Amino acid sequence: MSSVSFRRLEKSYGAVRIVKGIDLEIADREFVVLVGPSGCGKSTTLRMLAGLESISGGEIRIGERVVNRLPPRERDIAMVFQDYALYPHKTVYENMAFSLKVRGVAADEIGKRIAEAADMLGIGQLLDRRPSQLSGGQRQRVAMGRAIVRRPQVFLFDEPLSNLDAKLRGQVRTEIKRLHQAVGTTIIYVTHDQVEAMTLADRIVILKGGEIEQVGTPDEVYNAPASVFVGGFIGSPAMNFAPGTIRGGRVVLEGGAEIALDRAALRADAAEGRAVVVGIRPEHFVPAGEGAEVAGTVQVVEPLGADTLVHFTLGKATLTARLAPDMRPAPGETLSIGINPSRIRLFDAQTERALH
Ligand SMILES: Nc1ncnc2c1ncn2[C@@H]1O[C@H](COP(=O)(O)OP(=O)(O)OP(=O)(O)O)[C@@H](O)[C@H]1O
Ligand SMILES: [Mg+2]
Repeated sequence: MSSVSFRRLEKSYGAVRIVKGIDLEIADREFVVLVGPSGCGKSTTLRMLAGLESISGGEIRIGERVVNRLPPRERDIAMVFQDYALYPHKTVYENMAFSLKVRGVAADEIGKRIAEAADMLGIGQLLDRRPSQLSGGQRQRVAMGRAIVRRPQVFLFDEPLSNLDAKLRGQVRTEIKRLHQAVGTTIIYVTHDQVEAMTLADRIVILKGGEIEQVGTPDEVYNAPASVFVGGFIGSPAMNFAPGTIRGGRVVLEGGAEIALDRAALRADAAEGRAVVVGIRPEHFVPAGEGAEVAGTVQVVEPLGADTLVHFTLGKATLTARLAPDMRPAPGETLSIGINPSRIRLFDAQTERALH
């Protein structure tokens, strides 16, 4: 069993509360990705789980065991950091063997596990090299190999790919996904990268200021963000937001434009006169005539090859639409465009929580 559970988990440094009572149940073999702005407590949470940081309150369980006061080596967790932290004077083989030797694993068993991990990660030909003789991506794979050979109950990754260039990131990301499918261990993974979060996670946990803002599958947090914060944090370019008021089945935006709502949106507590924030993802704009239609003024056009980003004003709001690559409106032009009505999200203007 390698489920992980946080109950009212707290961390304070002096009088400053950093982690403010996190409740989270992570299932055996689940891949959970933690995201959130810098300083929201992601690394602190991983470090508390690994036992590298004391906890100020609450409870951490790994499987059925409460590990609050257990030293790191008794928790059966392997952590891979952003900076790899390889021993510079040891070879790749010795780096991977070290923690097993310390635990008294027999030499032939160590050899077998390293061969297996090296094979999985494609680093078999590098075992005699030292870290200084490796590329960034190779070092990263060695750091993963070192974690894999320990066969821990839980893997923790803290932004493991952020030092790699875009192409390598993609490759190693795929390797991590394959690793999870092959080894089937519980993984908790911190990243700033949207694509990593969406592609790797069984569930994404969005943290804000030491508290959980939303937990859900990638589809759930993407399609039904629980708050303006989540909508703005997940997805790139970010969800568009515009303040307005519900009037006669429409949202009247500040500055005058109107967006028609479908029945589902109206059922969702959208009482006449309620102050709301409308959320629309850039990809949920559709050609004119296929949805709730609006007319904005084009500001900036960014052709990206696969699609075109068009920034336009609507009332007082500035919005971004992701359109087909052949759409090239000119700045200053009026843009008539539809919005897929079932994709429009409404948030309360005061609490910024979703109405749906
Ligand atoms: N030893 C410490 N003493 C005091 N404050 C600390 C200590 N370690 C971390 N903090 C503070 O705790 C907060 C959370 O830090 P943490 O490293 O968990 O953030 P993070 O979410 O991992 O951010 P990032 O995305 O930048 O890595 C930060 O405000 C940080 O300054
Ligand atoms: Mg961090």
